[in-house]
Amino acid sequence: MNTRFTFCMIKPDAFKSDTVSDILLDILKAGFKIRGIKITMLTKSKAEQFYDIHQGKEFFDRLTTFMSSGPVMAMVLERPDAVESMRKLIGKTDPAQAEEGTIRKKFGSDTTHNAVHAADSYENAEREWSFFFSKREIY
Ligand code: TYD
Repeated sequence: MNTRFTFCMIKPDAFKSDTVSDILLDILKAGFKIRGIKITMLTKSKAEQFYDIHQGKEFFDRLTTFMSSGPVMAMVLERPDAVESMRKLIGKTDPAQAEEGTIRKKFGSDTTHNAVHAADSYENAEREWSFFFSKREIY
């Protein structure tokens, strides 16, 4: 297990509000190195696959419709304690509850449109970057 790496995704609301570069800057300022990056668009069924663990929850359709409504930026990031540091940097799921200075506080609007996703464990990070990247696309 290599805890230096994590997976993060900038969500469609940040593209709509034109805050992607501000979010990237916060990530870089926090000391993360980008090891893989791409902009793509999820289909509804790809979004459902990515968020499979939330199948059956009240917000599942809202979430996957939103996540397939515009571009996303997927990233593999490196830093010591990457998963934990990135979760701290993004803040709580609901931007209103997130701490001052966190990405979701600054750029999110509500619990669904919360600007950014970050893996919550190394195992999930690996599963999530494999969803978007081939080995040759990560250096
Ligand atoms: P979750 O894994 O609980 O949060 P996090 O993104 O902080 O790991 O939920 C995944 C995503 O599902 C969350 O970023 C946005 C969406 N979601 C909603 O739309 N409504 C909700 O009430 C919750 C809990 C999540």
